[in-house]
Amino acid sequence: MKRTRIQKILSSETAIDEVLIKGWVRTRRDSKTFSFIEVNDGSCLNNIQVIADDQLENYEQIKRLTTGSSVSIYGTMHESPGQGQKWETHAIRVEIIHIAPDDYPLQKKRHTDEFLRTISHLRPRTNKYGAAFRIRSRLSFAIHKYFQDLGFTYVHTPIITGSDCEGAGELFQVTSLDLENPPKANGKTDYLADFFGKKANLTVSGQLEGELFALALGDIYTFGPTFRAENSNTSRHAAEFWMVEPEMAFCDLADDMDYAEDFIKFLVEFAMKDCAEDLDLFAKFVDKNLMNTLETIVSKQFIRLPYSEAVAILNRSGEKFNYDVFFGADLQTEHERFLAENHFHQPVIIYDYPKTIKPFYMRTNDDETTVAAMDVIVPRIGEIIGGSQREERLERLESRMDETGVARQDLWWYLDSRRFGSVPHSGFGLGFERLIMLVTGITNIRDVIPFPRTPGSIEF
Ligand code: 4AD
Ligand code: MG
Repeated sequence: MKRTRIQKILSSETAIDEVLIKGWVRTRRDSKTFSFIEVNDGSCLNNIQVIADDQLENYEQIKRLTTGSSVSIYGTMHESPGQGQKWETHAIRVEIIHIAPDDYPLQKKRHTDEFLRTISHLRPRTNKYGAAFRIRSRLSFAIHKYFQDLGFTYVHTPIITGSDCEGAGELFQVTSLDLENPPKANGKTDYLADFFGKKANLTVSGQLEGELFALALGDIYTFGPTFRAENSNTSRHAAEFWMVEPEMAFCDLADDMDYAEDFIKFLVEFAMKDCAEDLDLFAKFVDKNLMNTLETIVSKQFIRLPYSEAVAILNRSGEKFNYDVFFGADLQTEHERFLAENHFHQPVIIYDYPKTIKPFYMRTNDDETTVAAMDVIVPRIGEIIGGSQREERLERLESRMDETGVARQDLWWYLDSRRFGSVPHSGFGLGFERLIMLVTGITNIRDVIPFPRTPGSIEF
């Protein structure tokens, strides 16, 4: 007999004749002639209550089942007289797969997120992290659903690249050279002798390659791991994170902003419908205001605000910020959160940033000082999406590369896309972890990734 997922049992309308439950004991308590075993198999938040009576041949052993032990239980399904659950199981056979010793760290009590991070190998067995990672899975699916239903093509852009798309120099180098004793040419490391015959790194963005595919297939998206050696130990940055990057041909900045808004609304609405039970845990125990925040995102049209106006609002606000705000300053999380949380109380899309603080590929506006860039800012997180219309005019692109120190010969293939049938096109990148933070109310990025990679931390 195949095992029955507890999720299937608990959501069933009618009783299933016989069930085979396999999972882990959350708690167990004894009455005179019964043992009540709460079993969870990770398929859903709730446990199933199993009633094992003293007629079972291994009843004495069953009474020794500890929290964290694994069991296989064959039994029948009955309407539960108890509060809180519709179904319970009466055990016909209880097979003890493994008894967890008493030093199992997840005894029934609240643990701090900080402590649970030190046992990332066990934390998915807790209610909160089980729920977070189920939501992460469902939202991955929703991302594909959104773009596939619109007819976008999913493109696998390379993980190892020779370029730095964002030009920020936050690269993890990839090499097969012996770092203790690298080959030298003219006193320097000889990358001609390295694996690829040139310097290589982990990708910081699939955008450049994504653009090439958009200019062939029309509408595309990438969804994969992204790496940045940013040495900022914040609650919103990880060294390895997942990014979704759609790229649309024949699409300008206004269309780009519309897509970004529609996409976020779709994902939040999807989570509210599809992950209701798991989300409820976060609304109860993590962020009491969560459902309000999510409903605002779904129902309110996102504000569109030129960067220059954002600067003016921040300066007029009288708020004390750690970083000064002036035209040409990069907006910090404190500024973004002030706008979304305190000023507008809803998501805001800031656009037309000064070109001096943005990468070479963004399209220069007619004012010659700003570029057609946009960031989507949401409450609690700050920036969740960064995007732009791309510079499709070859000469403009070349001069921006020269200005920002990006070598033309290294990106000859990118420039070719502007030489042959260049068209206006736009795209954006959504930080997947920040989306999960937004949807769950979790405030630290380390708690929405199964095994987070941050400065100085690579355990597991
Ligand atoms: O704003 P970013 O740097 O934009 C790009 O990478 C563009 N190439 C995207 C594009 O237009 N195709 O990054 C996009 C998003 C950010 O808004 C943020 O949500 C997330 O990626 N992000 C990070 N998330 C976690 N940890 C980090 N270190 C992140 N850096 C960026
Ligand atoms: Mg950005």
